[in-house]
Amino acid sequence: MARYLFDSADVHAGGRFTALESCYDPFSRRQLELTGLARGWRCLEIGGGSASVGDWLGECVGPQGEVTVTELEPRWAASPQRPAHVRLLRHDIVRDPLPGKDYDLIHARLVLLHLPQRIEVLKRLVAALRPGGWLVLEEFDCGWTPVLAAPDEASASLFDRVHSALMGLLEKAGADPLWGRRVLGAMAAAGLQQLAATTYAQAWPGGSAGIALHHHNTDQVADRLATSGVSTGDLEEFQTLLKRPDFVVNSYPLISARGRRTYENDKEVPR
Ligand SMILES: C[S@@+](CC[C@H](N)C(=O)[O-])C[C@H]1O[C@@H](n2cnc3c(N)ncnc32)[C@H](O)[C@@H]1O
Repeated sequence: MARYLFDSADVHAGGRFTALESCYDPFSRRQLELTGLARGWRCLEIGGGSASVGDWLGECVGPQGEVTVTELEPRWAASPQRPAHVRLLRHDIVRDPLPGKDYDLIHARLVLLHLPQRIEVLKRLVAALRPGGWLVLEEFDCGWTPVLAAPDEASASLFDRVHSALMGLLEKAGADPLWGRRVLGAMAAAGLQQLAATTYAQAWPGGSAGIALHHHNTDQVADRLATSGVSTGDLEEFQTLLKRPDFVVNSYPLISARGRRTYENDKEVPR
């Protein structure tokens, strides 16, 4: 069975979560607020990583609400200070039954992209919403990461070559690197309404918080990249390039897609 490529038990997972949090959390929060997120809501955060978004949801819903953060490998989200209404659960979204139903909001960022069973999972998430509840899926389109500035042509080619090899490994592991451009259509096919999507991207200069994502992703799977033609020397050069301020690459575009479960007999019944 295909497995998540970037095993979150690895030491690189912490760096990955820090990079994702610093680059994408402000955008994700704005998108989540567009659902009308309010005190008292019941929320489910799938594959929450460091739980930075789950903990923020906990602040938004307050003690009258409830947030369940699920994670295959919850060690990075362990926090002694978490309030009682925010629960962290070791959970496999593919194999385990969902921890509840009738959610006001279900959110997953960069999780379904990795799952070969993403459509089945999407259908189960839709079924776990209350009528009128929101599903927000945020996914990368890894097919648009142009090099925006480079010290020379060879450096730009090296980036593209190593990045393509990484995408090949993701596909072999059952991921869909282009899932971001398909997610809204899949949500429509799953019956959601009031669909909307916004895409966020920024320039990542060498040495910046965001570009560290490329460092952690490639270093973690260095042995497998070697079998795809990326030598140790290539990878060392690539890692050096990621530290040069004159090297700039576009971030992964994050597509934030949201949709709402219909009310019974399609009537707008406010909560
Ligand atoms: C790219 S990380 C994103 C983490 C977090 N959502 C974020 O955006 O910061 C993907 C996360 O999904 C988790 N994951 C992968 N497969 C999963 C599964 N079957 N069930 C639950 N979580 C899973 C991984 O452990 C990892 O934390």
